[in-house]
Amino acid sequence: MVVFTGPVGRSGLLPLLEGRFPCGEKPGEKISGLLPEFNRMYWGVLPLKRAVISDIHGNHAAFEAVMADIEEQGCGDIYCLGDLIGYGPDPRECILMAGKCGLNLMGNHEEAVLFGPIGFNPKAKAAIDWTKEQLSLADCPEEENREMWNFIGGLAKQHKEGEILYVHGSPRDPTREYVFKQDIRDRSKMDEIFDSPPDLSWKVCFAGHTHHPGVFAQSVPYLFLDPAQIDNRYEYSTRPERIMVNVGSVGQPRDGDSRASYVIIDDEAIYFRRIEYDLERTLKRFEENPGLPEYLAERLKEGK
Ligand SMILES: [Fe+2]
Repeated sequence: MVVFTGPVGRSGLLPLLEGRFPCGEKPGEKISGLLPEFNRMYWGVLPLKRAVISDIHGNHAAFEAVMADIEEQGCGDIYCLGDLIGYGPDPRECILMAGKCGLNLMGNHEEAVLFGPIGFNPKAKAAIDWTKEQLSLADCPEEENREMWNFIGGLAKQHKEGEILYVHGSPRDPTREYVFKQDIRDRSKMDEIFDSPPDLSWKVCFAGHTHHPGVFAQSVPYLFLDPAQIDNRYEYSTRPERIMVNVGSVGQPRDGDSRASYVIIDDEAIYFRRIEYDLERTLKRFEENPGLPEYLAERLKEGK
């Protein structure tokens, strides 16, 4: 069971969702029966069944498919670990859809849009420049553009609830640090990550960023468990070790499987899910937006 002690930071997007969208979206149609704030306000204590998603990267078709699966699975709420935008052709639609999430965190791509793409490769940087333009379209109302920017600017870098910590990158650097499976051999790096942040204790940390799903377990030596190795299920409630769970990527998987990736957590276990989506629709959106490097579309076909 999880005890909710107060509302989690929903951004200023809700008024936007309830408003009008002259640029074509009809947000009222996109809002499903998921009402986490209502549940929290009226019930206070709920059995935990939460979807954790990350790295949507402007891939609206993948985001829609994952949201449909989350609804089918009966999750109580959805937490998003960042990188809603960057790389993909539909940043505005993805920001709108993120209004369904009870929590949205900042990823390195939101950070890059706000403060500059430091350390980005040329293709990723080109996508950031294109994305910035999309968030300030002259033919969209100024208020709508402002809400898009306010949403991104209002994102938190980490969130802790009970024994669970949520970040985009790692507990040591919540937006930018990559933790790859080969890092389990770097004991000092892993020790520092698992002991961070110094002022917070946690048992489960959810992260994204690498676009590779799996479980890092604090043991001697550290372990990385690929979802396939554990039948897509890790029972954390009966185990003493701290774990860091990479939820994979909704919109740009890089583990050789082109399907969208996300996880569900309940009071006992974490479940890895892979979802087919309309890839052709996303590829067509890339064709319609030649300002994005072609490579970013090509890699979606391979999931790399
Ligand atoms: Fe990412």
